[in-house]
Amino acid sequence: MVVSAHPDASRIGMEVMRKGGNAYDAAIATQFALAVAFPVAGNIGGGGFMVSRSASGDIATLDFRETAPGAATETMYQDSLGNVVDGLSTDGHLAVGVPGAVDGMVRIHQKMGSLPWAELVQPSIDLARNGVVLTEKEASGLNYTKEAFLENNKHVPYLVRNKVWQAGDTLRHLDLARTLERIRDKGREGFYAGETADLLVKEMQRGTGIITHEDLAKYTAVWREPVVGDYKGYKVISMAPPSSGGIALLQLLKMVTPYDLRDYGWQSTKTIQVMTEAERRVYADRAKYLGDPDFVEVPLEELLNEEYLKNRMGTMSMAQATPSSEVKAGELPVYETEQTTHFSVVDPAGNAVSITTTLNGGYGSKVVVEEAGFLLNNEMDDFSAKPGVPNMFGLVGGKANAIQPNKRMLSSMTPTILEKDGKLFMVVGTPGGSTIITSVFQTILNVLEHDMTMQQAVAAPRFHHQWLPDEIQHTEDAIPAPVRAELQSKGYVLKQRGQFGRVDAILVLPDGKLEGGADPRGDDAAVGF
Ligand code: DON
Repeated sequence: MVVSAHPDASRIGMEVMRKGGNAYDAAIATQFALAVAFPVAGNIGGGGFMVSRSASGDIATLDFRETAPGAATETMYQDSLGNVVDGLSTDGHLAVGVPGAVDGMVRIHQKMGSLPWAELVQPSIDLARNGVVLTEKEASGLNYTKEAFLENNKHVPYLVRNKVWQAGDTLRHLDLARTLERIRDKGREGFYAGETADLLVKEMQRGTGIITHEDLAKYTAVWREPVVGDYKGYKVISMAPPSSGGIALLQLLKMVTPYDLRDYGWQSTKTIQVMTEAERRVYADRAKYLGDPDFVEVPLEELLNEEYLKNRMGTMSMAQATPSSEVKAGELPVYETEQTTHFSVVDPAGNAVSITTTLNGGYGSKVVVEEAGFLLNNEMDDFSAKPGVPNMFGLVGGKANAIQPNKRMLSSMTPTILEKDGKLFMVVGTPGGSTIITSVFQTILNVLEHDMTMQQAVAAPRFHHQWLPDEIQHTEDAIPAPVRAELQSKGYVLKQRGQFGRVDAILVLPDGKLEGGADPRGDDAAVGF
């Protein structure tokens, strides 16, 4: 089964498995297909993370996160007075990190693939040439972004046309098809060298971009140690830094363990309080301690220490909200110094892949590499442009996540796999910037504590707290009115917002069948055989 943000991508991944490919092959094919069918977030010009578990229980995590270009500096998004310049880290050529997606796919294939590489890329080339029929959401996404595409490109990118896009229109990606052919034929070199690299560097020079041939040649995805922990007998396997996702998810799960959320009930005042107070404390830690482990020392063991987490929750009271102004990052015993996409894959043998991949914002930097037909990320905004100044997701950070040449920007992406009794149990993840961690957290609890099916857990309305701003963000239908009133009387600030998260997950049922959870907030689709 493949559950992804686009039916064509889910189908392409599924067909690879029907031809005898494994879950890793299917994931690679799905990643390329999303770059075509779901350009708002699917990508070859971005990056991401993979968490995998083989049928025999071997776990692995690959970091194909973007890096800061070699010429990046800590203050590159500040003016001469030290103020962060609006838009500089989010739009246009200077916002782009060195893409990691293609090297990531190549490395997954080298280590775990079973079908020939070309067979995994070819379906996306065909899709790009034949075109993709736009859904309502995609057509309006392209129309909405038209001005930004024109502002951030010297040429008129192929995603723009005079007439408005409408559902049912076919969008062909002809330059992208040629780029994918180079990737099909030359693998890594088809992107990081030769014609694609020349076009990318030329594109940089047309704007104010700083990515060089050397940056591209040097980029490498990295196999990392997975972050692993236990929640009531479930083994939780997730992504280590430079994503904050795995650590934060485990901190949250461990912090709520002593509370009987099942007994409190779904979206009850007490459940929301416990989850919110945990979230507030975890995001305060995230802002201080987490960054690229190749550049800063991340105190992983200390942050996951049970005693530490128990003490952190010791300051919460059921009578009243803890104001975020009173919550700082924890004192650790030893310490020196909104568009993305997720897909989940399980193959007939039981191999499982969980990948979250991103351009960061919708259509990334909005820059399309001329003649190469692909969008570039604006991942540089995930760095802290200045200590304490919020990024596009309202997240703050400091030294640990300051910009340095070749460093990876801190992520919230949380591709995760759960095991129960040594067997695969769930594959889960989502986009949503800072809300990724809390959406994965809620989806897991919806199944484990509130007995929902996978689809119910994915569809259920969500809430989110990230320390700063000090508010519970929730969708219209997420919290019953009497519960909202009770929370307000205890000092919680509630803020209604639009939908967030597109969780795509797979649950292994007791009889071994798979249940897909495809998020109804998008055009997401579960496809299996
Ligand atoms: O890595 C991160 O945490 C962000 N770049 C993810 C961005 C995202 O999820 C936007 N989606 N809605």
